[in-house]
Amino acid sequence: MPTAVVTGGSTGIGAATVKALAKRGYDVAFTYLRSEKEAESVVKEASGYGVRILSARADASSWDQMRAFADEVCRIFGKVDALVANAGGLPQRRTLEESDLDYWKALIDLNLTSAYIATKLFVPMMERGVVVYVSSVAAYTGGGRGAFAYAAAKAGLLGLTRALAKELGPRGIRVVTVLPGLIDTPFHNKANTGDIETWARNMVYMKRVGRPEEVAEVIAFLVSEGASYINGAFIDVNGGWYG
Ligand SMILES: NC(=O)c1ccc[n+]([C@@H]2O[C@H](COP(=O)([O-])OP(=O)(O)OC[C@H]3O[C@@H](n4cnc5c(N)ncnc54)[C@H](OP(=O)(O)O)[C@@H]3O)[C@@H](O)[C@H]2O)c1
Repeated sequence: MPTAVVTGGSTGIGAATVKALAKRGYDVAFTYLRSEKEAESVVKEASGYGVRILSARADASSWDQMRAFADEVCRIFGKVDALVANAGGLPQRRTLEESDLDYWKALIDLNLTSAYIATKLFVPMMERGVVVYVSSVAAYTGGGRGAFAYAAAKAGLLGLTRALAKELGPRGIRVVTVLPGLIDTPFHNKANTGDIETWARNMVYMKRVGRPEEVAEVIAFLVSEGASYINGAFIDVNGGWYG
């Protein structure tokens, strides 16, 4: 049975990814932080595919909490074939002027250090495997108002991808990144993005927001054997949005 780990699997893109992988026969372990009820419903739905689904509350930016989660995954699954480092977000928008060092560090911890922690803990459990990072179109565009720290963290994932693709490629471990555009998830309530439908009509070539499943399907392809020669790549999933 192939096994996968997804950080931030309770809602949005992460939840859709847990289900997409379960549907393809993966045992999946995922983390959440605040959305316990949503996590329970993901476990229920994904278990319906006849695979093992584990969920654990663990702050993705805490080494100790992720270490405990990794120990549990190792004990129960014994190995990992795919890691999707998805947990992230923009809990508060601040411009450079409004920001302070604590704000900067919190955004970097949530969106970049979390990916390092998951990679450091789960790659040793891979014989061969795939690591997928969830970055953002903001890595290229800088994002909307008050997203500079988020954009910097998401751009950091691109460097991490290329460097680790090089380092881990010889061991048969691929490292790739997806860059979602405007996807209809709770992210936008927390990030106070405004009316995403209007944004999409103005900015996105396809004139609509994306669904979390449209990102999850790409992630599921990237971890599959069909993507066996994709390594170090940045995959845009944005309906056409480069402004
Ligand atoms: N939606 C978009 O338009 C968009 C665009 C570009 C990139 N992205 C990226 O896509 C990823 C998923 O976001 P989403 O859109 O699916 O938003 P979402 O529905 O808010 O999902 C975020 C997930 O991350 C988890 N999470 C947040 N902070 C965490 C922490 N410290 N530790 C552990 N888990 C944590 C949340 O868990 P709890 O709710 O349980 O706390 C939730 O499962 C993020 O990295 C985001 O930056 C989203």
